[in-house]
Amino acid sequence: MSGAPRHLLSVADLGRAGIVEVLRLADSFAEIAERPIPKVPTLRGRTVATVFFEASTRTRLSFETAAKRLSADTMSFGTAGSSLSKGESLRDTAETLDAMGVDVMVVRHAAAGAPARVASYVSAHVVNAGDGQHEHPTQALLDCFTLREARAAAGAAADDLEGLRVAIVGDVRHSRVARSDVLALSALGAEIHLVGPATLLPPSLEGWPVKSAGADLDALLGELDVVYVLRLQLERMRTGLLPSLREYSARFGLTAGRARRLPESAVVLHPGPMNRGVEIDDAVASSPRSRVTRQVRNGVAVRMAVLFHLLNGPDQAATRTAAAAP
Ligand code: NCD
Repeated sequence: MSGAPRHLLSVADLGRAGIVEVLRLADSFAEIAERPIPKVPTLRGRTVATVFFEASTRTRLSFETAAKRLSADTMSFGTAGSSLSKGESLRDTAETLDAMGVDVMVVRHAAAGAPARVASYVSAHVVNAGDGQHEHPTQALLDCFTLREARAAAGAAADDLEGLRVAIVGDVRHSRVARSDVLALSALGAEIHLVGPATLLPPSLEGWPVKSAGADLDALLGELDVVYVLRLQLERMRTGLLPSLREYSARFGLTAGRARRLPESAVVLHPGPMNRGVEIDDAVASSPRSRVTRQVRNGVAVRMAVLFHLLNGPDQAATRTAAAAP
């Protein structure tokens, strides 16, 4: 087992070896979900706090489910009803939770870099659950896990995603999911194409390990293994970036017609929440190609793996315990 990082703030904290290790751990944790009682004692006595300064449905519930399945105690901090309304700072909030003996803080914040700040204040391990437009590493890990699973179902046994052709479509510029996914997918060898209107693509591709970036989704469709549809981040947009939602859907929406032009085996992912009828058609979101509910299901196993990895990282004995535990 390679050394685990102290925190998971970016996909880059793991690197290729760390990603593969988390995905392999997630394999064994996914099996637990199939049991009549989907729970193991692996993290008994540890405390995991979700510290969310921004809205969330699936990420927060997914982390809480993951912690509970590992028998950790959970605490949940949300901005509504907290002392933030009395002007308490990020630092004081973080230090207060830390003083209660929390082992892992799962932090979501509207400002890029906030989880890294929290990490500098506390002795707990910190997991970035989405910070502004920066990163969302566990989303990328669960996406990789889901694509690896789809590949395995098609007969491939490899841990990596070598040669997989992925289009990430839509609002790349405002998307922390796209940033983390590009890092993780490229580390595993996928070939990535960014597709969207120029106003929603990164201003420069420096530091983006991608094969292409452009506006012609139709030209790519016949060659793709994966279409990763992003949510239009309407809450983060200045006005004037899009002529209209209708025009956006017409050019970049994954419609039933476009989905028909994909190769037979191609799959569709979306991190949720979906704007049905805007970036993805209802029929496509509910079609057999869609892996959206697999993403949600796999998210729990992957987050179990992340919690375990951070808390037991460099210790070989702990790896053996994990192997035995499920
Ligand atoms: C994403 C997020 O909040 O970054 N959702 C999620 O965590 N599944 C994506 C989004 O909001 O578009």
